[in-house]
Amino acid sequence: MHLNNEFEPLIKTKIRTTPYHLNLLSDKERILAFHEAIKEKAKGTIYDIGAGCGILSILAAPHADFIYAVEIDHTVAKHAESNLKSFNNVLVINEDAKEFVFPEKADLIICEMLDTALIDEEQVPVINSIFKYLKKDGEIIPKKVLNGAEAIDMEREHICYEDNEANENPNYEVMSNFKIYSEIDFKNEIKENVEADLEFKISKKGSITGIKVTTFTLLTDNLICGPTPMLNPPLLIPTEKIKVDIGDIIKVKLIYKMGGGLDSIRTRIEKVSYRP
Ligand SMILES: C[S@@+](CC[C@H](N)C(=O)[O-])C[C@H]1O[C@@H](n2cnc3c(N)ncnc32)[C@H](O)[C@@H]1O
Repeated sequence: MHLNNEFEPLIKTKIRTTPYHLNLLSDKERILAFHEAIKEKAKGTIYDIGAGCGILSILAAPHADFIYAVEIDHTVAKHAESNLKSFNNVLVINEDAKEFVFPEKADLIICEMLDTALIDEEQVPVINSIFKYLKKDGEIIPKKVLNGAEAIDMEREHICYEDNEANENPNYEVMSNFKIYSEIDFKNEIKENVEADLEFKISKKGSITGIKVTTFTLLTDNLICGPTPMLNPPLLIPTEKIKVDIGDIIKVKLIYKMGGGLDSIRTRIEKVSYRP
């Protein structure tokens, strides 16, 4: 996929950034999808939450009256200020977005603190805190997140993200069907604690040692993005080990807190039965 000519040279040469934010910028599929969503939705007063080095504000500024670009990290916020200094309609604010008192309501909130199933980053607590500042007819990018899971036999014994480079030779084997288990609509109140009852039909004889969680991000109604290398790579979560046969049904309880970190994840295999 190619970024259009307006900002590919900009990304390569002018932006001041950190190694992590440079990786974010290098994920062209992610940037291109956000650019499409911004072109469709950007107007009026915009918040760019978790602004990083300011890339999404750069893309939104031509369409906005004013942008509040909020970034918690001091060094990164300094880079954003430098990258955004030529835009007189963008204000960089170096604060925790959960604490900041916005002086006016937003027509659009762009919040890219996404991670797989929204567990490790503060996307959900931040949106829950700032939702009161969104105008009634205001919009949020992303609009929704869908999470799905499947039972796997995994090599590693700890929680890890799928390694992009291992795609052709993944270090796990899919053992069941795939099921969407949750849909998060950022315009509804979001409960941070998740307790999902997953049920899988086993498609191979062998062992279940984990589950794989995959997240799809709807930036707008018509634009699904991810997983991409820097946007929600699938998460592999170990469970206790059980032997299974084709046709078995297993039930797994998956518990975590959105924004609570990977340490908040718990799994419990609840039941194994056979249904022909
Ligand atoms: C995934 S990066 C996205 C950066 C940029 N928006 C982009 O799309 O390339 C998320 C950013 O959110 C910032 N962040 C995390 N928690 C925050 C909070 N509570 N308030 C403001 N910024 C936060 C991080 O420091 C990081 O720079």
